[in-house]
Amino acid sequence: MDISKPEHEVQLGVPSMDGSHHELLNQIGRVGVIPDAEFPDFYLSLVAKIERDFRSEELLMEDLDYDGIKTHREQHARVLGGLHHVAPRVKEGDVAIGRRAMELLPQWFLFHIATMDRSLADAVRKAKPAAHASVAG
Ligand SMILES: [Fe+2]
Ligand SMILES: [Fe+2]
Repeated sequence: MDISKPEHEVQLGVPSMDGSHHELLNQIGRVGVIPDAEFPDFYLSLVAKIERDFRSEELLMEDLDYDGIKTHREQHARVLGGLHHVAPRVKEGDVAIGRRAMELLPQWFLFHIATMDRSLADAVRKAKPAAHASVAG
């Protein structure tokens, strides 16, 4: 499945979230064309982006005193934990394990965005209709 195709993208109506999800899904979708020699850098920069995106959602949740923060944070931590777990081996050149870890990401993200992120976006739109309309990041 090519997750960078628009029909797979879930729009949540919060531009900061939709923008980072779009970028993230595009980046994940490129994994197949990244040569092995460039893979470790690609992997590490993708993990860094995922960390930033998760952090910004978590800040939003803190800001809103959001009820679902604990479960949402746990889901973020679980996927990041898996990516961090294999990062040292990827750095040492084990590209295959990194590629396998990334194969799991599209389904995980599409499901996470359609469920947890959607609930968060609903709360953001209800609480701050204007404040988040043009915030990026
Ligand atoms: Fe998200
Ligand atoms: Fe999330």
